[in-house]
Amino acid sequence: MATAQDSYTPRAEDKFSFGLWTVGWRAVDVFGEATREPLDPARAVHELARIGASGVTFHDNDLFPFDADPEEREQYVTHFRKALKETGLAVPMATTNLFAHPVFKDGAFTANDREVRRFALRKTITNIDLAAELGARTYVCWGGREGAESGASKDVAAALDRYKEAFDVLTSYIRDQSYDMRLALEPKPNEPRGDLLLPTLGHALAFINTLEHSEMVGVNPEVGHEEMAGLNVAHGLTQALWHGKLFHVDLNGQHGPRFDQDLRFGAGHVRGAFWVVDALENGGYDGPRHFDFKPSRTEDDTGVWESARACMRNYLILREKVRAFRNDPQVQEALRDARVDQLAQPTMAAGEDEEDLRRSKTDTAGLAARGMAFERLDQLALEHLYGVQA
Ligand code: GCO
Ligand code: MN
Ligand code: MN
Repeated sequence: MATAQDSYTPRAEDKFSFGLWTVGWRAVDVFGEATREPLDPARAVHELARIGASGVTFHDNDLFPFDADPEEREQYVTHFRKALKETGLAVPMATTNLFAHPVFKDGAFTANDREVRRFALRKTITNIDLAAELGARTYVCWGGREGAESGASKDVAAALDRYKEAFDVLTSYIRDQSYDMRLALEPKPNEPRGDLLLPTLGHALAFINTLEHSEMVGVNPEVGHEEMAGLNVAHGLTQALWHGKLFHVDLNGQHGPRFDQDLRFGAGHVRGAFWVVDALENGGYDGPRHFDFKPSRTEDDTGVWESARACMRNYLILREKVRAFRNDPQVQEALRDARVDQLAQPTMAAGEDEEDLRRSKTDTAGLAARGMAFERLDQLALEHLYGVQA
């Protein structure tokens, strides 16, 4: 792996960002203790700047402990702010930890206990203030504990009412404060709850339509979460863009439906990652390329930064391959042979009505006999990915 500057060296315009909780993950898992020491957020900021990221994101409790009093909290934030100033790193997004503390064992915005819900809203609003102060334009809401393990324990319809209520409160608050900020919902099918509410992008998009200020709420899809649900991430990202709702993205890697692996980007379903980059680069997304991964538990500090660097490097490698694919004259010809361009043409001609449709003739036998030539097109994509087409 090249370490000197090369065409896979990240630049500010690539808009790469990382969560403090990614490189700072101490690798505690369900079966084992931490394998790494705590990471000072200020050091994380400096290291991220060194490896070429341009942004850092955080949960409130990545910066200060859950029980910090206002004075302690300010000290932690000051320390972080100083590192931001020294490095020039931006804070494009922030989020709330509504899942780690035992108070959230049955959820936050949809907990059965009303007092928990009120506390969760208060915690979120407090951190939205900090996020706004640090310049974040996106506030992510991942409902890690919003869900259930059993049937009767959760009144799902009532939970959705409360979920909607929470978003209506938060969007009104953001408007009242005149913050330049939008909310992004992050779907996940399961883990840590047995079944999570708003499990996929589709559920989230439908839910957003019910909100009072739905224009302020979009999605933050995570590659691995959609793949855990067996879905095609590139299609999901494209549909989110089509709805004008792709406010942010969590890039990482996953091998199919199993526990949330949070592998470094490009290290999971590789073919899927190629189309994810194509969807983002060619679909009009211009937000942060945010990595939400967990450096493997086997790694020491050096391995942490190596894997973070690799997320960006893999994105840039795939971006180069996607560009080469799209610019390849053979591909353009194969796209025409596959009649991909025809799909952009409306099915009805201007001024045509159902009567014209009824009168038109279709050569069904001829159409049925025509091959679609998709295999050649896909083989070209694979050969670009495999590196045998330059
Ligand atoms: C996960 C989640 C989290 C959230 C993050 C934001 O891997 O299950 O992605 O990492 O994105 O905590 O709240
Ligand atoms: Mn995520
Ligand atoms: Mn995840």
